[in-house]
Amino acid sequence: MTTATPEAEAASETHTPIQVTLKILRFNPEIDQEPHWESYDVPAQPTDRVLNLLFYVKDYVDGTFAFRRSCAHGVCGSDAMQINGINRLACKVLLKDLLEKNGKKTEISIAPIKGLTTLKDLYVDMDPFFEAYRAIKPYLITYGNEPTRERIQSQADRDRFDDTTKCILCACCTSSCPVYWNDGSYFGPAAIVNAHRFIFDSRDDGAEERLDILNDGEGVWRCRTTFNCTDACPRGIQVTKAIQEVKRALLFKRV
Ligand code: SF4
Ligand code: SF4
Ligand code: FES
Repeated sequence: MTTATPEAEAASETHTPIQVTLKILRFNPEIDQEPHWESYDVPAQPTDRVLNLLFYVKDYVDGTFAFRRSCAHGVCGSDAMQINGINRLACKVLLKDLLEKNGKKTEISIAPIKGLTTLKDLYVDMDPFFEAYRAIKPYLITYGNEPTRERIQSQADRDRFDDTTKCILCACCTSSCPVYWNDGSYFGPAAIVNAHRFIFDSRDDGAEERLDILNDGEGVWRCRTTFNCTDACPRGIQVTKAIQEVKRALLFKRV
């Protein structure tokens, strides 16, 4: 008789079916005055992603349930939502990581991200978020003659903005920012991260105009360095550090 290793036991445990209660904050503007919680019992495997559970509700319980998603692999940034009160991408969270160690707590709360108007269920109006993004000119700006070959950059120069190239515009950071909740006209961390990506790019000539934009009353100085944004970022971007670097560039007038 062979004895299962602890690893094998753990692996088989993760395939035990369980029943999960999904508590979802629902809102249908055609019939509801206010959002309200609805609970759904969902059969699941511990290795399921939260996105799978949302699909179960939509496919088998209520086809009117609205939420954004696209890639299902943590790439497109569409499915940001509050999962147990924390901003995350539903396709990147495994059910087993939400269960208590004894496996008994199987209730999960799902709500839309904050600071952006909810249009329906988990579906929020992303227009203000993308307006802030567009306002910081998220593209390479160059002046002078067209180059006749590629724009060369050293590894050290590339490293200066490497972290901020990873942004997938999911809004987990901006919608976790208390300053943004209170005043949606603040550019928000995601816009600043994307400004950082170009400000510190040695091939770009638009740093000054972007810094001018972020020196505005709704710009970087509104940030209170609370680190919510860094904690929320599913790409592990050092969001607050990037904001600090932009502040420093403004203070010392040098990138
Ligand atoms: S560090 Fe700044 S941008 Fe990030 S959540 Fe806090 S106040 Fe908002
Ligand atoms: S910085 Fe991170 S949390 Fe913010 S939008 Fe980009 S990927 Fe999402
Ligand atoms: S569906 Fe694309 S990041 Fe989750």
